[in-house]
Amino acid sequence: MKVCVSSLLPLFFLFLSPALADPDLLQDLCVADLNSTAKVNGFPCKPAAAVNETDFFFAGLANPGATNNTMGSLVTGANVEKIPGLNTLGVSLSRIDYAPGGLNPPHTHPRATEMVFVLYGTLDVGFITTANKLISKTISQGEIFVFPRGLVHFQRNSGKVPAAVIAAFNSQLPGTQSIAATLFGSTPSVPDAVLTKAFQVGTKEVEKIKSRLAPKK
Ligand SMILES: *[C@@H]1O[C@H](CO)[C@@H](O)[C@H](O)[C@H]1NC(C)=O
Ligand SMILES: *[C@@H]1O[C@H](CO)[C@@H](O)[C@H](O)[C@H]1NC(C)=O
Ligand SMILES: *[C@@H]1O[C@H](CO)[C@@H](O)[C@H](O)[C@H]1NC(C)=O
Repeated sequence: MKVCVSSLLPLFFLFLSPALADPDLLQDLCVADLNSTAKVNGFPCKPAAAVNETDFFFAGLANPGATNNTMGSLVTGANVEKIPGLNTLGVSLSRIDYAPGGLNPPHTHPRATEMVFVLYGTLDVGFITTANKLISKTISQGEIFVFPRGLVHFQRNSGKVPAAVIAAFNSQLPGTQSIAATLFGSTPSVPDAVLTKAFQVGTKEVEKIKSRLAPKK
């Protein structure tokens, strides 16, 4: 049978479409064997006989995380690394806790759109589009805000009491790149000449930021 190439094009773009997040599943479940050394897109499946309810359970978001760190915030993931049963399902959650004034610093999730639901407190949140427009809002208990996939975003507790959100992602493992830590705290480190030119500052300023953001040894 002759198949017209142009008739296949929409299908081709469907599979490549950036609108899709994690790939669709091909079986009921595929509980991650997190110890496997095999490299696949995701994790290999555990034998069905070894699967039970604990693979689909996690109690780690029940309580506030400790926010007594430099940023005054803590992200607790509930992704495939914590819940092996999420493997191939394309969803995950996090809980984020914020001390008063606490910041979840500007970062991106390369593999997921995020929506946050405020459990309590008040947050200034925002993301920046590729056209460099800041879309921001103050959100409170019971309210939701969306951060489109891949765009740089942040949340800051603008209240005088602790705040917390539940974040939902359309990926089993969204991945996080924190902008400041990525550029100033990588190993090996990004050359000063790259950062001085990019940020239009001197070596001294770059070294100062690097010393603050260096990975803790
Ligand atoms: C991975 O290996 C560790 C240590 O051998 C073991 O305790 C754990 O149960 C294993 N995890 C899985 C998901 O098989
Ligand atoms: C479920 O399987 C794990 C090993 O993967 C085991 O440690 C645990 O005891 C099992 N839980 C139940 C309720 O059978
Ligand atoms: C944060 O507080 C907890 C509990 O009070 C404590 O165990 C921990 O050492 C503190 N961490 C820092 C970085 O101060």
